Amino acid sequence: MSEHSANPSTIAATGRPRAFKAVIPAAGLATRFLPATKAVPKELLPVVDRPVLQYIVEEATQAGIGDVLLITGRGKTSMVDHFDRRPDLEARLTEKPELLAAVQRPSELAEIYTCRQPEQLGLGHAVGYAELHVGEQPFAVLLGDEFVKPSEPLLPAMLELQARTGGIVLAFFEVDPADTKRYGIASVEPAESELTDVGEVVRVTGMVEKPKPEDAPSNLAVLGRYVLPATIFDAIRRTEPGSGGEIQLTDAMELLRNEGTPVHAIVYRGTRYDTGMPLGYLQTVVQIAVERDDLGAEFRKWLTEFVNSDASGGPST
Ligand code: G1P
Repeated sequence: MSEHSANPSTIAATGRPRAFKAVIPAAGLATRFLPATKAVPKELLPVVDRPVLQYIVEEATQAGIGDVLLITGRGKTSMVDHFDRRPDLEARLTEKPELLAAVQRPSELAEIYTCRQPEQLGLGHAVGYAELHVGEQPFAVLLGDEFVKPSEPLLPAMLELQARTGGIVLAFFEVDPADTKRYGIASVEPAESELTDVGEVVRVTGMVEKPKPEDAPSNLAVLGRYVLPATIFDAIRRTEPGSGGEIQLTDAMELLRNEGTPVHAIVYRGTRYDTGMPLGYLQTVVQIAVERDDLGAEFRKWLTEFVNSDASGGPST
């Protein structure tokens, strides 16, 4: 808990509490990554030497969030073990302080709570299970397969914006128009001028989950970070199955927006890592690896030689 950069209970100028709990829906079957994810949760796939989920919890910690609820499912309890202590292992690492610290670090990031989503009926359905833990306060949702570069944080500005509006706060990134069917897509208008000091803020005028390119209102895709008011839980209960036959968070948010809840978003221009599919996962591993102090230089040298070699199918030098 020592790493919190801000007091989670800070009250914004408006008097509204900041979101201080995060929910990570991580019960999915990860069909895009089978068979690797048959027995190993995709959230535990390693990016160099840390599981994806640790990067995500670190992102919450960095934003001052100290309470994290993991929504899990069958066969995924090893995710929780990662954030527990391992006294037997620690006892063997007393001569290796760096490794010992690395092993202890996950258990120091936040208080981790869990609950189970018994059936995988969609992202909205999963978030609905957080209601008892979250209570009445706004909260953050961090999807379990994507994260942003720590030096280009996103959540602090989202939390600030939500404390000002009291509504729904999203983050968008621009996608190739051909890819809209993989994301929630929004239509937007300029935000109120008093909000623009927070970042590149837009006001959302509509959201649709996974539209075909010809139906997409823009190329602004919903990134897997949300700051939501607790009214979302009632909206989820009132949301019918949508795209893919699943209860979609996008649809529940659109329901609230239609009923008058303000919805704003920050257009994120930083680096987003998407580990939910093999290609994005590979790109993430390479990007993180080349920046590592300990092995980056050597890996970059090897990678340069590899891409220029016949073995890679690239230009040979
Ligand atoms: C989910 C959301 C979608 C969002 C995406 C971001 O989709 O439903 O709105 O754009 O995450 O990664 P999923 O990736 O679970 O299909």
